[in-house]
Amino acid sequence: MLAVEGVTAGYGRATILDGIDLAIPEGGGLALLGRNGVGKTTLIRTLMGLTDRTAGRILWRGRDVAGLPAAERVRLGLGWVPQERRIFRTLSVQENLEVAARPGPWDLARVYALLPRLAERRANQGWQLSGGEQQLLALGRALMLNPDLLLLDEPLEGLAPVMVDVVLDAIRELAGTGLALVMVEQHAADALELTGHAVVMDRGRIVARAGSAALLADPARIVELTGL
Ligand SMILES: Nc1ncnc2c1ncn2[C@@H]1O[C@H](COP(=O)(O)OP(=O)(O)OP(=O)(O)O)[C@@H](O)[C@H]1O
Ligand SMILES: [Mg+2]
Repeated sequence: MLAVEGVTAGYGRATILDGIDLAIPEGGGLALLGRNGVGKTTLIRTLMGLTDRTAGRILWRGRDVAGLPAAERVRLGLGWVPQERRIFRTLSVQENLEVAARPGPWDLARVYALLPRLAERRANQGWQLSGGEQQLLALGRALMLNPDLLLLDEPLEGLAPVMVDVVLDAIRELAGTGLALVMVEQHAADALELTGHAVVMDRGRIVARAGSAALLADPARIVELTGL
C-alpha cells in the first residue's frame, strides 16, 4: 500500500530524517516508536508532504506521490491525526466534522456511532472540549475524509486514563475494519497491541524492526530500544 524508500527530509536546511525505508501492506498496522525528538512526527509529516524532502521515494499503491501536495495525498486516501490535534476552536463539533467531509463509508452518523461522546458534544465549540474530547474530534475529522491509511501521531498523549481507553477502543475497532494504521506512541505497549509490525527510530533513522507481538512479549527489549 505504502512504500517509503530512502527518504531524507527535514525543515529547510535542517535534515532530520536520514534514509528512511518502510513498507505497509494493504490493511496493515505499523507501530512507530522512539524517544522524544527522534523524528517520528517529521516522518508522519513527510508522508503527508509537509516537510522538505531531499531524497527518496514515497510510493502509494505503486505511484510516487512524493511530489504531491498534502491535499492531493488526502484525496488519494492518506489520513492524518496531527499530534497537536488542530481542531477549529470556534466551530462546533459537528461543523468541525462537516468541513472535512469527503464521500465514502464514513459519515456523521458512523463517526457518532463510533465516538458517542462527540454526538453528545455536537453543539459545543472546539474550545469548550477537554483534551480527550479534542483528540476524539481530531480522529473523527480524519475519518470524515474517508482515508484508507490513517496516520495517528501520539493519539493518547496527555489523556486521562478513562479517555485513553475510549480512544484505544475506537482505534481497535478501526483496525478491525481493515483500515491501515500507522500509530506513533511513546507508550509502546498500546501501539504494539494494535499493530502487526513495529519500527523504532533514533536520531532520524530506523534502528530496529520487529513483529509487534514479539516485541510486546519482550519488555526488556522495548526498554532497550525506546528507553520506556
Ligand atoms: N518545524 C521545525 N523546524 C525545524 N526543526 C524542527 C521542526 N519541527 C521539529 N524539528 C526538529 O526535528 C527533530 C525531530 O522532531 P519531531 O517532532 O519529528 O520528533 P518526535 O519524535 O515526533 O518527538 P516527540 O516524541 O516529542 O513528538 C527535533 O530535533 C526537532 O527539534
Ligand atoms: Mg512527535
